[in-house]
Amino acid sequence: MDSLLIKGGVPLHGEVEISGAKNAVLPIMAATLLTSEPCTIRRVPNLSDVRFMAQILTWLGAQVKVEGDTVRVHAKKIKGAGEYDLIRKMRGSICIMGPLLGRLKKATVSLPGGCVIGARPINLHLKGFESLGAKVTIEGGYVHASARRLIGSSMFLGGRSGSTVLGTANVLMAATLAEGVTLIESAACEPEVVDLASFLNAMGARISGAGSPTITITGVKELHGAEHEVIPDRIEAATYAIAAAVTNGQVTLRGARADHMHAILDKLNDSGVKVDRTGPDIIIRRNGRLKPVDITTLPYSGFPTDAQAQMMALMALTPGISIITERIFESRFMHVSELARLGADIEIEGPSAIVKGGKPLSGAPVMASDLRASAALVLAGLAARGTTQVNRVYHIDRGYEKIDVKLRQLGARIERIEES
Ligand code: EPU
Repeated sequence: MDSLLIKGGVPLHGEVEISGAKNAVLPIMAATLLTSEPCTIRRVPNLSDVRFMAQILTWLGAQVKVEGDTVRVHAKKIKGAGEYDLIRKMRGSICIMGPLLGRLKKATVSLPGGCVIGARPINLHLKGFESLGAKVTIEGGYVHASARRLIGSSMFLGGRSGSTVLGTANVLMAATLAEGVTLIESAACEPEVVDLASFLNAMGARISGAGSPTITITGVKELHGAEHEVIPDRIEAATYAIAAAVTNGQVTLRGARADHMHAILDKLNDSGVKVDRTGPDIIIRRNGRLKPVDITTLPYSGFPTDAQAQMMALMALTPGISIITERIFESRFMHVSELARLGADIEIEGPSAIVKGGKPLSGAPVMASDLRASAALVLAGLAARGTTQVNRVYHIDRGYEKIDVKLRQLGARIERIEES
């Protein structure tokens, strides 16, 4: 298993190109299953999760070709049922269920389990499918959904933590080929859902209201092939912004979308980080002393849970007390004990982490537990004195394209140690 070796204490300077968004491209790749015509997706990040989704599509019978950051998928004939053990490896692959149900009127996938960031139920996905008239059964670890016809309906997809991103995506995709009109209330408003809806509309779907809590889908008989460019990854951009802040440097985020990052940029600004927007670029630099801030993670447009761990690394370096309250996933604090190895002083109280920041961090070997936790450890390592070794970086390769290369281009002393 590869690891990253970081010699900290170097302020980062320069420009970093932001890749396409992981959480947009996964459902968009799944959506290509809705048509028998070829689709082209551009600005696809080279990530292990993307390669994995490509494997699933191939397994289902689609032809997948990757040329640089362009992926072409042709799902001329596909199968809708089988042993998708692959699904268990990547939770995001649950979003093939909506397209399979929409196109073939049947889908079987292995039930995804929980993961280190908490329970990951799919009850809202299934509620949506049932509302469209599908019969859903769970048997032997598999979830089966089937329908003779899918019929549009009104449904409320809010759960205990608010909306669901992949649940909204799944139901949205199935409903494009349902008969009549579907109304999703309490739909997720994330930019990744909007990006999926614009791809589906380019395929001939009739969707309005994406980006608001009410999405209306007027079903069509079939969808056709389309071309689409994926939005930039707002979480990757946030991570490099925080990298500039923790190292007291200056970094230009090239091609990022500030309009997708209001909550993050606002909190960075409150933390004493200067944010300048010039056209499609965002320039991030420290603006004197860091200031403590409090954060509560919420569905979009609130502060994203996917940037919480990285923000904690910044708080650990900020003199004073900062508080993070995690409202989306109940156990997304796995990074706390690893940050403590670097000298951070953080206490967990229920859904909140109390960060007593300002103590100098010093390098140590640490273990990545999930994607964003690993990013937080890399950020802390960049700011720490001495050497930090982040083990199990396969987690980070799921969601960050060439993170070591990009950080090196900004001046970081970071090396990948490959192990066979
Ligand atoms: N929930 C339910 N029932 C459901 C679905 C979700 O109760 O049927 C709950 C979850 O337990 C959680 C909340 O609703 O408390 C929100 O979960 P959501 O369904 O929105 O998460 P997701 O769609 O499975 C996506 C991203 C995650 C990101 C979350 C929240 C992808 C592939 N994954 O997951 O990304 O944290 O939305 O924004 O899009 C990451 O990139 O590191 C990552 C984990």
